Amino acid sequence: MKKKEYLIKKVEDLSNITKDLVPTLKKNEVILVSGPLGVGKTYLAKELGKALGISQIINSPTFNLVKLYQLDDLNFYHVDCYRLEEASEESKNLNLDEFIGKENNVFLVEWPEFAQSSLKKFSPAIKIEMSFGDGKERKVLVKDER
Ligand SMILES: Nc1ncnc2c1ncn2[C@@H]1O[C@H](COP(=O)(O)OP(=O)(O)OP(=O)(O)O)[C@@H](O)[C@H]1O
Ligand SMILES: [Mg+2]
Repeated sequence: MKKKEYLIKKVEDLSNITKDLVPTLKKNEVILVSGPLGVGKTYLAKELGKALGISQIINSPTFNLVKLYQLDDLNFYHVDCYRLEEASEESKNLNLDEFIGKENNVFLVEWPEFAQSSLKKFSPAIKIEMSFGDGKERKVLVKDER
């Protein structure tokens, strides 16, 4: 398993992560992004979308659960499980496997810990752990478990 830690001093530095990550992405990838409120998970999703070539602005999908951004040869699913924290087990099923394998899909999932039962079938995955550093800094650990 490959592991790499990044020290992000400003939002723009998130491109250092996506620059390394995007060339490794294959046909269907699930990227699980964990870390506390406001640490920058959605900002990382924005940067990944940009790096994949998506020109639309990527906003937090908190009220939609899943937002889909489509390119000719790629679907980018931005998923935010935060709202599922208090949901019942059966309503936690994200049904992401309906899409897996059919086309070229990249899933980025925020708050994966709130939909663990639904996501475990996608393991091994790319896991990204974000945490607060000094001042405005963020620490980002990328664990490629594929
Ligand atoms: N790498 C960064 N460095 C400094 N500030 C950042 C960074 N990433 C995000 N921020 C700031 O933190 C705020 C929250 O970021 P973001 O919405 O991406 O967090 P989040 O982890 O998705 O939060 P939530 O848990 O609510 O979904 C943003 O408004 C942004 O200004
Ligand atoms: Mg977010």
